[in-house]
Amino acid sequence: MSSNPWAGRFAGNMAASMAAYTESLAVDARMIAEDIWGSQVHALMLHRCGHLDDAALATILHWLERARADHERGSFVMRAELEDVHMNVETYLIQGAGAEFGGRLHAARSRNDQVLTDCRLYVRARLLSVEDALLELATTTLALAAQHTRTVMPGYTHSQHAQPITAGYWLSAHVAGWLRDLRRLQAAYRNLNTSPLGACALAGTDLRTDREYSARLLGFDAVLEHALDATSARDFLAEALSALTLLMVALSRLGEELVWFSSHEFGLLELADAFTSGSSIMPQKKNPDCAELTRGKAGRVIGDLVQLLTVLKSVSLGYSRDLQEDKPPVWDALDQVHGALRVLTGALGSITLRPERMRAMVDANFATATQLANWLVAARDVPFRQAHEIVGRLVGEFTRQGCTLTATAEVVAQLAGAGIAASAAEVAAVLDPLQGVERQASQGGPAPGETARLIAGYQTALAAARADWRQRVTAVSAARDETARLVAAALSR
Ligand code: ARG
Repeated sequence: MSSNPWAGRFAGNMAASMAAYTESLAVDARMIAEDIWGSQVHALMLHRCGHLDDAALATILHWLERARADHERGSFVMRAELEDVHMNVETYLIQGAGAEFGGRLHAARSRNDQVLTDCRLYVRARLLSVEDALLELATTTLALAAQHTRTVMPGYTHSQHAQPITAGYWLSAHVAGWLRDLRRLQAAYRNLNTSPLGACALAGTDLRTDREYSARLLGFDAVLEHALDATSARDFLAEALSALTLLMVALSRLGEELVWFSSHEFGLLELADAFTSGSSIMPQKKNPDCAELTRGKAGRVIGDLVQLLTVLKSVSLGYSRDLQEDKPPVWDALDQVHGALRVLTGALGSITLRPERMRAMVDANFATATQLANWLVAARDVPFRQAHEIVGRLVGEFTRQGCTLTATAEVVAQLAGAGIAASAAEVAAVLDPLQGVERQASQGGPAPGETARLIAGYQTALAAARADWRQRVTAVSAARDETARLVAAALSR
C-alpha cells in the first residue's frame, strides 16, 4: 500500500511515472506558510464546534507551530512523493502528533477547499507587494515628471513628430494609466478576498462547522458561500492575472519608449550604468536590457493569461485535476510583473534626461506647425481648413528649401505671400515651442500649469491608493496576530 493518506482503497502503489507527472509540490511548496495558517484556523474552528477536545487542539497546534518554525528556519523537508504541500504538512503533523490527534485535522475539510484557501491567501499577499511596487514606480515617475513640466520635447503620433509636449507631460501620462492598473489590482484583491474554507470537496459537510469564524481569522472579508462554486471558481486567478497582464503591457510600452529614446538616434535620455549592460564583444555598447526584457517578458505574461484561460474553459464545475495547472502561470506573472516594477523604478529613479536634445528635435522637424495654423485661426480669423492649407504649403516649400520653422523671416515672407501680415516678433512668439506648450492649456493638455494640476491630482490619488493598501496590510496582519494569540492561548491551557 502507498504511503499517501488517501491510499486506503488502493492495493498497489502509484507508478513512478504517474507520481512524477502528477505531483505539484514544485509549484505549491511556496504556499506552505498559508497552508499552515489555514490549518491552524481550521483546527481552532473544529475545537470551537466540538470536534476537537483541548488536548487534541493543543497537540495539533503544537505540531503546526513546529512545522512553521522548521519552515522559517529552512529545515522543513518536503517530499515530492507526498504529491503536494497540503499532504506534506498533514503528514508532518500526523507523524509528530500521532494518528489519534493528527488524524483529526482533516475533518470537514478537503484539499479542494484547502488549496483554494492557500491560494487566495498567497495571491492576496503577492498582490499587496505588486501594488506596493507599482506605487513606488508611480511615485518615482511622478517626482521626475514634476521637475520637467517646462522641458519641451517632441510628442509623437505614427512615430513622427506631431506637436511639442514636455517630458513631464510624457511621464505623467504613464502614471495616469498606472492609476487605472492600481484600481484593477484593488478590484481583483477585493474579489479574491473571500473564504472558500469549509466548502470541503464540493458540497459542504454534515459535520457542524463555523465558516464565518474561519473566514474572519484568515482576514477574509466574507465567506464564499456556495460550496460547489467556491471549490470550482478560478476567476479570482484569471481576474488577478488579467490585471497583471494589462499592467505588464503598459510597462512594455514604457520599455519600448525607453529603448528608442535612449538610442543614439533619439538621444532624449540616458539610463544609468546600474540599469544597462554591456556587450561581450563590442566595447562601446551600453544596452537598455531592463527595458527590452520588460517588452519581452510582457509576451510571456500574456502567454500566462492565455494558458490559464485555456485550462479553465473546459473544466466542468467541481474539482478536476486540470485545475492544478492554474497556479504556474499566476506565479510566473506575479514574479515577472513584480520584477519589472522594481527594475523600472530603479531605472527611472536614476535616468538622465537630455533637455537640449529634446529641444533641438522639436525645432528640427515642424513640430510647431499646428501652433501656426491655430494662430491663423485665433489671431487672423482664418477658417481652420484654410489655415491648415496655408501652413501645409509653407511646410512643403520649407522642406524643398531645407529650412525649418525657426527661420522667422522666411515664415513672415511666406505668410505675406498668402496675404497674411505678421511681424517677425509675432511669428517668433507663435512658433516658440515653450510658448506654444504654454498656450496648449485645454483640459488635460501639456501647458505647464495644467500638467502641474494633473500631477497634483495623481499625487492625491496615489496617496489614497497607498492609504487603501495600508489598511489592507493592517487587516491581514491583525488577522494573523489574532490567530497567533488564539494558538498561544490553546497551547498554554
Ligand atoms: N495539488 C492539487 C491542486 O493544486 C490540490 C488539490 C488536490 N485535490 C484533489 N482532489 N486531488 O489542485
